[in-house]
Amino acid sequence: MDGLHGKKVMVTAGPTREHIDPVRFLTNASTGKMGFAIAASLRNRGSEVVLVTGPVSIPEPDGVEIIKIVSAEEMYQVCSSRFLQMDMFIGTAAVADYTPKNPAALKIKKKPENFNLEFVRTKDIIRELAQIKGSRIVVGFAAETHDHHRFALEKLRYKNLDLIVVNDVFGKATGFAADTNQVTIIDKSEGVTEFPLLSKEETAEKIVSYLEEYIICRWDTPANILGR
Ligand code: C5P
Repeated sequence: MDGLHGKKVMVTAGPTREHIDPVRFLTNASTGKMGFAIAASLRNRGSEVVLVTGPVSIPEPDGVEIIKIVSAEEMYQVCSSRFLQMDMFIGTAAVADYTPKNPAALKIKKKPENFNLEFVRTKDIIRELAQIKGSRIVVGFAAETHDHHRFALEKLRYKNLDLIVVNDVFGKATGFAADTNQVTIIDKSEGVTEFPLLSKEETAEKIVSYLEEYIICRWDTPANILGR
């Protein structure tokens, strides 16, 4: 049983930026801390990690391949071009759901009248990848302010995920910019595992330990080792 050792894992992290013009963009408050901590924990257990990250200002973990992107479309292009070589995909990124329909090539000048902008949907990266996942494990995150369990289960099913990690972004101690987090993992059969309030590093360790057990059960049985 080799758990996560030698497994190829892609982790997405941070926010995306959707440009309105060359100097303005739509983004969110994701810091990338959770995804970076998961990438470091996986590396410590011998996984080969590809970390695809939006613009963040935290230290980069050593010993992982880092691919920097800006927009949701760029994140999609990178992830989809490498996904089939991976054993597991973990989507911690806070990907923009909408992007400006016609971003301006030059800086938009202000005018006296109001300004409307039309947005179009971005691709749901994890959902697109999970449609072609085969035996790969796909893990999503759900940042919710209310009805956590219900929304997370809906996402798990709609996006064809194996596991979803839910956290409450309403609480001060668990929001995007906090150093602590309190997560619950829900699996496809609605098994629920709750973790206490911990630092993001400790939370990453718990999540990765859970994944290690999960893949040992799912993949590293004698029949599967022969079959993979
Ligand atoms: O934004 P939402 O709550 O739907 O995100 C849940 C999961 O889906 C997260 O793992 C996130 O990284 C992923 N996601 C994605 N592409 C999007 C939106 C979300 O991969 N466009």
